[in-house]
Amino acid sequence: MSALHVNGREHAVDADPGTPILWALRDTLGMTGTKFGCGAALCGACTVHLDGQAIRSCITPISAAEGKKITTIEAATDGSDRTGSAVHAAWVKHDVAQCGYCQSGQIMSATAFLKSLPKGKQPSVDEIDSAMAGNICRCGTYVRIRAAVADAARTLA
Ligand code: FES
Ligand code: FES
Repeated sequence: MSALHVNGREHAVDADPGTPILWALRDTLGMTGTKFGCGAALCGACTVHLDGQAIRSCITPISAAEGKKITTIEAATDGSDRTGSAVHAAWVKHDVAQCGYCQSGQIMSATAFLKSLPKGKQPSVDEIDSAMAGNICRCGTYVRIRAAVADAARTLA
């Protein structure tokens, strides 16, 4: 039995310690906002935060989350996380999603990036592109993603 701290709540998870966080979230806890894309740390669809750092939940075992805090896309959409809420609002404003499959991972990467910036800093286009480079969008929504990240940064400044 492992204890997972997710979005401010503690959960007892009966799974092998090597189970990827992605599957504990989706299959055990029923939190399906985090997506499975490649399963090999290549696409970013499964991005969540572990103690505030963006990680690939498809390759990170639940044993690595012992004593740490996991934040998922559900926290960005329930209003409990200010930065995540600003990013989500910018996503809606810019109508970023196309099929939507990659977007929870995109939002989680953007949120970790904006949290890492000094307060009030407006990121450059290059900085945004570099921060988001690990998240693949097969629908090619990159231009809208860039605009939404910049907009969220302005909102948070
Ligand atoms: S599903 Fe984890 S990086 Fe692709
Ligand atoms: S919106 Fe379809 S893969 Fe990104």
